[in-house]
Parts: sequence; C-alpha cells; structure tokens
Amino acid sequence: MLVSALQIAGAAWEAGRMDLQFKPLDLPADEPAVVEFLSTNEWPFHAEPHLSSDTAAQVRVESDDITSFWICEGVTTVGLLRIMDLDDLEAGSPLFDLRVAEAHRGRRIGRRSVTWLTDYLFTTYPALHRIEATTRDDNVAMQSVFAHCGYRLEGRFVEAWTNADGSRSDALSYAILRHENYLPTNKSLG
Ligand SMILES: CC(C)(COP(=O)(O)OP(=O)(O)OC[C@H]1O[C@@H](n2cnc3c(N)ncnc32)[C@H](O)[C@@H]1OP(=O)(O)O)[C@@H](O)C(=O)NCCC(=O)NCCS
Repeated sequence: MLVSALQIAGAAWEAGRMDLQFKPLDLPADEPAVVEFLSTNEWPFHAEPHLSSDTAAQVRVESDDITSFWICEGVTTVGLLRIMDLDDLEAGSPLFDLRVAEAHRGRRIGRRSVTWLTDYLFTTYPALHRIEATTRDDNVAMQSVFAHCGYRLEGRFVEAWTNADGSRSDALSYAILRHENYLPTNKSLG
C-alpha cells in the first residue's frame, strides 16, 4: 500500500537540463528489462560485479518496503534506482541503491539522480527525517556524488563489506537530514 502510493506520486519527474525522467517500474511487465539491465552492465563496486540472468532476477525491486524507478533520458534507459526500508519512515531511514548504465557513467546522472531522490523522498513523506546510503570506500565517483548532493560522511565500517572474491573492503556510511537538504549551499546541480 505504501509503495503504490509512492509510485503514483512519483510518476515521471523532470530533472533539470539533462531532461532525465524517473519512472516507477511497471511490474511484472518490466521484469525482463530489469534482468537485462542488471545482467548486461558491470557493477564494480557492488558485492557481485557481474550478475547472471538468474542472480539478476533475485535482486528485489518491489515489495512492501522497496520500490524502484527507471532513470530515463528520452527513450533511453540510463539507470535504475532502488529505494529500500520504506516500511518505517517515521522512525527509520530509507536506504537506496543507484546504478547508472556503463555507457552513461561520468555524465553527472549520478548527482542528478540523488538530488531528485532526496527531494522526492522528503517531499513525498513529510514525517521523514533522514535518508541513508552506504558505498565501498574505493567508489570515488559515488563519494563525489554524495558530496555534491549534501550528504554527510557519518562513518567508516572497517572491512564490513564482503566482495564476491571473498576479500573485504571498508564501507562508508552517508546520510542527509531533512533540514540539511534545504540549505542553499548544499547542492550543486552542474
Ligand atoms: C557511482 C555512480 C552512481 C556515479 O554516477 P555518475 O553519473 O557516473 O557520476 P557523475 O557523472 O555524477 O560524477 C561524479 C563524480 O565522480 C567522478 N567520476 C565518475 N566516474 C569516475 C570513476 N570511474 N573514477 C573516479 N571518478 C569518477 C566524476 O568525474 C565526478 O567528479 P566531480 O564531482 O569531481 O565532477 C555511477 O558511476 C554508477 O552507477 N556506478 C556503478 C554502480 C555504483 O557504483 N553505484 C553506487 C552504489 S552505492
């Protein structure tokens, strides 16, 4: 029920000069497209850098506390945004997972997507106080996105991130509070 309200409210949101749109997934019709998107791109900073069709099909994109949006530029799908932990918004903090298609990385889609997501969540949920996200400590691009979008580095979890090859990395934890999102100096749209 929560997720469907979010989907209705979020249908297609323009994102500035680049003309990005954020479209709720249409499930189950979009399931094959989700599997194709996830299994035909590499995710070097995720626990599983390469997803087979089977493992991609297990990535949860919709449930009572998860919802997802396509990031589109015209008719081209350039990314996928999953929002999780939506079941306890008054006391808890949603998490998100942002994945830009390989061919479109480095075009500032990341920072525009996080700016959109942050505004979207705080606008849609008046009771929401904070949003959280984690990334691997060598994901420089994502750390730059967080900095541009006003997210604060709150902690380093030493060797908390298990990689596919069994090695371990540090995980960095970021967050933004509602009132911080409206500080004029906090965001760069360029
Ligand atoms: C991480 C990601 C979301 C960033 O989005 P993006 O649109 O590619 O990044 P942007 O174009 O907004 O660039 C952000 C910054 O990172 C830099 N950058 C981009 N790719 C980079 C790379 N491979 N290595 C180092 N820096 C990089 C950009 O130059 C830019 O720097 P600036 O802030 O100094 O100008 C995207 O690259 C991606 O989806 N990667 C794979 C999935 C992933 O790691 N998701 C994050 C999970 S937490």
